[in-house]
Amino acid sequence: MEMKAAGEKITMLTAYDTPTAQILDAAEIDTILVGDSLGNVVLGYKDTLPVTMEEMIHPAAAVARGVERAFVLFDMPFMSYQVSVEDGVRNAGRAIKETGCNCVKLEGGANYAPVVRAIVDSGIPVCTHLGLTPQSVNIIGYKVQGKQYEKARRIVEDALALEAAGASMVVLECVPWKLAKLLTERLSIPTIGIGAGPFCDGQVLVFHDMMAFADRKTAKFVKPFAQVGKLMRRGVKQYIREVKSSAYPGTEHSFIIEDAVIDKLSGKMGKNKK
Ligand code: KIV
Repeated sequence: MEMKAAGEKITMLTAYDTPTAQILDAAEIDTILVGDSLGNVVLGYKDTLPVTMEEMIHPAAAVARGVERAFVLFDMPFMSYQVSVEDGVRNAGRAIKETGCNCVKLEGGANYAPVVRAIVDSGIPVCTHLGLTPQSVNIIGYKVQGKQYEKARRIVEDALALEAAGASMVVLECVPWKLAKLLTERLSIPTIGIGAGPFCDGQVLVFHDMMAFADRKTAKFVKPFAQVGKLMRRGVKQYIREVKSSAYPGTEHSFIIEDAVIDKLSGKMGKNKK
């Protein structure tokens, strides 16, 4: 909230393990999201729907252990808060108690105001997520949300209801930039955009996308900031070449032993043979 008031942009990236969290934290990222994108980014699922609390808790704890200064968000997986307010509070409590994260994030509009209110009342900050909400992929698909008046109006009403319920920030995914700008101006809580244009209070990207890990096409809003996948593929190829040709490892990568020990061993083995 202070950063929004000061006009300072908030940076956020996803992480799912300690070494990545350490890199982001050392680079002075403001916030790290342990996204349920874990499902499709590192667990090999086709979408985020199968991800469970257990699958989120281990990586989230690993991220929190790697962080000294960044604010860490735990993304509540599908069906961990949709069934009842009680379920939502219990799972948000687990997310904080068992991982050391600072905040939970959940997808959905005004319908989720009661669960947001109850989680906040239990002492846990909540980030909400509007626009393209991947947990609703079977209803809305993966496409830009809020281009038409009715849908855009609903997103504005949802954002205001969630803010009133005590949400601390809102992720806006794949909404037209003018709608994101309007929301950023209307809300007192920070907006964090992903595919929502330049006028949000902050920006988030999936780490593996912005590092170009996978050799595949990404969404229009993803900018590759480094070609990590290419570098890794080159490294693996080189390793294979060197092992196959016996160029690696050399004795310089190994450990020494006194010749006398080897001689003694050879003698013994010779005797045993007899
Ligand atoms: O799960 C995730 O990584 C997210 C971001 C795309 C915002 O929700």
